[in-house]
Amino acid sequence: MANTILVGAQWGDEGKGKIIDVLTEQADVVVRSQGGNNAGHTVLIGAQKYILHLIPSGILRGKKQCVIGNGVVVDPVGLVREIEGLEALGVPVDGKLFISDAAHVVLPYHRLLDEQREVRKGRNKIGTTKRGIGPTYADKASRTGIRMLDLIDPERFAEVLRLRLRENNAVLKAFGAKPLSFAKVEAEYRAAGERLRPLVTNTVVMLNRAIRRRKSLLFEGAQGTFLDLDHGTYPFVTSSNTTAGGACTGSGVPPHRMDRVVGVMKAYTTRVGEGPFPTENQEISDLLHGMGREFGATTGRARRCGWFDTVLTRHAAMVNGIDQLAVTNLDGLDTVERIRVCVAYRCGGKKLDYVPTDGRLLETCEPVYREFPGWRASTADARSWKDLPARARQYLEAVSSLVGAPLMIVSVGPARDQTIFVK
Ligand code: GDP
Ligand code: IMO
Ligand code: MG
Repeated sequence: MANTILVGAQWGDEGKGKIIDVLTEQADVVVRSQGGNNAGHTVLIGAQKYILHLIPSGILRGKKQCVIGNGVVVDPVGLVREIEGLEALGVPVDGKLFISDAAHVVLPYHRLLDEQREVRKGRNKIGTTKRGIGPTYADKASRTGIRMLDLIDPERFAEVLRLRLRENNAVLKAFGAKPLSFAKVEAEYRAAGERLRPLVTNTVVMLNRAIRRRKSLLFEGAQGTFLDLDHGTYPFVTSSNTTAGGACTGSGVPPHRMDRVVGVMKAYTTRVGEGPFPTENQEISDLLHGMGREFGATTGRARRCGWFDTVLTRHAAMVNGIDQLAVTNLDGLDTVERIRVCVAYRCGGKKLDYVPTDGRLLETCEPVYREFPGWRASTADARSWKDLPARARQYLEAVSSLVGAPLMIVSVGPARDQTIFVK
């Protein structure tokens, strides 16, 4: 398989984990290049459900190598917990998982600052996952971060931690929060560092060597296009580049070594956390929540739901250079009588066919809808394009044409075999 970047084309939770699991069969190495354990990627294998936060979903497939790249922020204690969770389920990690020595480390003060800043924002909160993602990337940009190579050297780690705690405890105190104990954090992180040390390596060199040996790389995007720090609905975004370019900077693999970009999108739209969402719709939210669906894999929060938005996904196709689409959760629309698709926005007396940069303007946008008759039949057992009801095929063809990229995969359920390869 060609080197493939897989990105979420909406606000995250598009079903990337499932599609990665399906595509991993044809890949040699699966790479995470941004984000942290704010991600929650669900993979269902038989009756066993796995939720991966930092470890690439490829870990569930036999001999595949999995890489946590330099662009990821690693909570080492959370990662050890995730490794132990997988081992308890009979999934070995050692010898398969490699962690970049340059990846930045999430510390307890990052999590506390994340929480404190959210509390202080009150009504204007972002609705973060409280995993410390923003403050960790802020430290990276401020050049005050601690990296994996520091963590696995106990003396060096103790030295930098002492310095960083001095500054961050002062900030926590100013927020009225309890300062952190050096001894406690040091002991907890030393233990995690010891467990992870054998997995830490120069993944930039490793990945480029793999490419020279003609191995296939699959980049597992976390979050989604509209949570991108630069291209998303700022400030209601995460703190990394979730779009295709982030796969290069976050892994050290140059752009001309990437062969294709796959955009994953739900057949409708969801968003968890605050921020503008033009096609948000109570009826479809109630329908999906009533089916026990659309609750967050990381925080358990109910996801906000709405109609498919082609203004959004066309924009995603543009900034990511999406070559092929994977449309998931088609089965979520099985019972809907009239399905709506947003084809433009009306805002400030104008019709827009792109996503405005100003979130306050996006907030006022009224979607212009096109309606499609629902197929009112279960698609869960469809295994090929021709198994799908004619109206479902018409819907998917319209979506593909409006987004401006060909369909590659249609997913009709969470299981591996509920996957239709269109081309
Ligand atoms: P990710 O963050 O993009 O990996 O997505 P999540 O795992 O957070 O959320 C997607 C949810 O949809 C998970 O519960 C998946 O098991 C589920 N899922 C993925 N594809 C399908 C599908 O085609 N149909 C149904 N019913 N569920 C799906
Ligand atoms: P996956 O990889 C959906 C959202 C949070 C919040 C905003 C900022 O599973 O698709 P952060 O904790 O990153 O500072 O939160 O981003 N968010 C996600 N929403 N899926 C995710 O990941 C998300 N990761 C972060 O809800 O609105
Ligand atoms: Mg998720």
